[in-house]
Order: sequence, then structure tokens, then C-alpha cells
Amino acid sequence: MVELEIDGQQVSIEEGASIIEAADKIGVYIPRFCYHKKLSIAANCRMCLVEVEKVGKPLPACATPVTQGMKVFTTSKLAMKAQQDVMEFLLINHPLDCPVCDQGGVCELQDLAMGFGRSHSHYRQAKSCVVKEDIGPLIETEMTRCINCTRCVRFGEEVAGLRELGVIGRGEDAEIGTYIKNFMHSEMSGNIIDLCPVGALNPKPNRYAWRGWEAKEHPTIAPHDCVGSHLFVHTRGNAQNPTRTIQNVVPRECASVNEVWISDRDRFSFLGLQHTDRIKHPMMKQKGEWVEVSWQRALIEIADRMQAIKAHQGADKIGALISPNVTTETAYLAQRLMRAFGSDHVDHRLRVADFSMPELQEPGRWPVLPVADFAQVSALLLVGSNIREEQPVLASKLLQASID
Ligand code: SF4
Ligand code: SF4
Ligand code: FES
Repeated sequence: MVELEIDGQQVSIEEGASIIEAADKIGVYIPRFCYHKKLSIAANCRMCLVEVEKVGKPLPACATPVTQGMKVFTTSKLAMKAQQDVMEFLLINHPLDCPVCDQGGVCELQDLAMGFGRSHSHYRQAKSCVVKEDIGPLIETEMTRCINCTRCVRFGEEVAGLRELGVIGRGEDAEIGTYIKNFMHSEMSGNIIDLCPVGALNPKPNRYAWRGWEAKEHPTIAPHDCVGSHLFVHTRGNAQNPTRTIQNVVPRECASVNEVWISDRDRFSFLGLQHTDRIKHPMMKQKGEWVEVSWQRALIEIADRMQAIKAHQGADKIGALISPNVTTETAYLAQRLMRAFGSDHVDHRLRVADFSMPELQEPGRWPVLPVADFAQVSALLLVGSNIREEQPVLASKLLQASID
């Protein structure tokens, strides 16, 4: 372990760690754009410059390994001047169109400009402009806002396994884009929206629909990726419209399953809830016609009919088929309801047609590897599977296993 001091606080961390990791460990915040704990180090934004004792110039905290007895100052005059200068550089060509930017209110650049920038700029020249690129139906680009941190590029290479975005040009002409004019095909492409520290990459289907400060966050589990990734659902509602509607879905960090990523189908499937073809209210057939009824009316009807069946034919004539996609808690409550009613007929094997070998259905019959362990496998046989499309989160673990 290496012992060092950051802003007067002692910290002990494994050899090879960077200053920014040591600072995060003790809750000292160093501003950053290109650094992301799940991606490789690029050290190209220079926002994380700090002062290190006996070193004459500021050093990037994300790319400087800790050394024994090191003394780091993150808020010294030298460090703060370096951070303010970098922020001024980053903003030379940034349009600052915050009022119409989807990222407004949840923008790392806004926050860091407030916290670590100056209130004025020395630059008077015209700003450059980058033409936006159409990279598919899920992600809207506004590349003039890009600060070239390359998080989105590294994500494609290191997590999604598809090198779809890259840096084109050099210096002031550097732009992020698809080398050949093409759409993104990754099943996890939406993660670059979260990774992008500015409003250069936005969700296309729900763009301009809501603001971060209007939302309420609800933790939940992914219904579509087959591994139960952890999610946050953002909803919006107000006094005039008390029925909250889902506006956005983002990953909830979980080291043992999805880390900080989710599949596109879990990010965007909530749009299906608003589809015009969807049945949004309970319906009952009355005089041969389907009519909408309230939930209260529908639940009373169900309870009455269940009681009638129980009274005339017995409770065991009623069973519950529970979708295997529901959470364990929901399935547990459903079976409690049925057993309290007097029936043990509960099943989740909705798609099993052949029960001739029941022993194969027993829980625990098949060895199941914890999701996180897929990142360490040395060999794996996939049978009839396109895992990148079917279980994208698991595919990213296999990519890790192949790299490590
Ligand atoms: Fe403003 Fe951030 Fe959007 Fe830039 S990316 S325009 S700073 S909200
Ligand atoms: Fe970074 Fe966003 Fe630009 Fe990609 S698009 S390089 S994530 S600022
Ligand atoms: Fe360190 Fe970008 S965060 S150089």
C-alpha cells in the first residue's frame, strides 16, 4: 500500500492507483471530464490538474500514479489557476446554448464551469462550429458542444466491443464521428449519452421532453436484458398532472451485475408504455362490448368472481401464472396472495411446453455463474447465440474476459 497526503488528509491506497482514485477514496473532489472509473485513461482534457509537492508544474491527477509520501494539493493557487485556464480553453469553442440544451441542469460542464472556472474569457474570436451527424434513431448529436473527451470512443472499444465512433482530424479540427457515414449498431449505444459530460449526445426519442430538475428518481430492475440490471426510472408529474409519466431510464450502479451500463432496450423500452396501441386501462365486456372501467371496479369484479369460484368449485380451481420477467418480490407477493386464498397452483414456466423431464426444471439443477464472474471466464461455449444482441450486458463481461 502507498501512503500519501491529499489536502492535508492521509490516504492509503494500492500501488499503481492514480491521484484521482486516491482523492475519490477520501471524498476529495478533483474536477474531471475525460476520466471515468470504468474506462481506460486518456488524460486529454487536463481538467484534473493538481499541484504535487516538489514538482514545478501542475500534473493530471487521473494519469499520475501515487508514490510513497507524496503531498498533493487540489485547491492551491497553482492548481486552481491551472484548472481555471483549462476551463477557459474548453469553453473557447463551446456554444453555451444552455437554455436550449437537453443537458442543462444536469451538465458536468455547467457544474465545473461554475465551480472551477472564471467568470470571464480572454477570447474574442468567433467560435468554430461542427456539423451534427445522424448516428441512428436513438442518439441525437450536437457536436459543436463536444469537448473531445473521447469517453464515447473508449466506451465503444472497451465496453460495447464495437468501434463505431472515433476522433477524426487533429488539433482544432478534431471531431468525433463515425469514420464511414453509418448508424451505431451496438445494443448498448445509449450508454454514451450518460458518459458524455456535455450535451453533445442526447436521447433522440425523448429529446426536449423534460428537464432534470423536474424528475423524481425511482430504483428498479431491468425487465429486458435477461440479467436484471439495476435501473433508475425518472418520472415527471405535478399538481395539475398528478399521474407521473416516465421520462427517462438510466443505469443504477451495481458492481455485481451491470456496473454502470444498461442495454438500449431497457433504456428506451418505456416509450412503448406511451404507444397508442397499448391498453392503458382495465377493460370489461359488457353486453358484448369492451368498455373501459376503473381499476377499483376491475379489482372488485376479480375478487367477486374468485370468491364465487371458490364457493362453488373450490379454491384449487384457481391458479396464477406469473411472468418470469417480474421481480422476485412481485412473484413472492403473487404466490402469497394465491396461498392465502387457498390455492397452491402457482407457476412461472409460461413457455415450457415439455414437462417430461421435470428434474431438468429443478432450481439449482444447472450450475449458474454469477453475472460478475463472466468477466473472469477463461473459456466459454456459446450455442446458437448472438450474445451481443440477446444479452448485451453479459456480452460486455465476455469482452472484459477476453481483454484481461
Ligand atoms: Fe450548457 Fe452544458 Fe449544454 Fe454546454 S453542454 S450548452 S454547458 S448545458
Ligand atoms: Fe466526449 Fe461527448 Fe464529445 Fe464523446 S461526444 S468526445 S463523450 S464530449
Ligand atoms: Fe484527467 Fe481529463 S480527467 S486529463
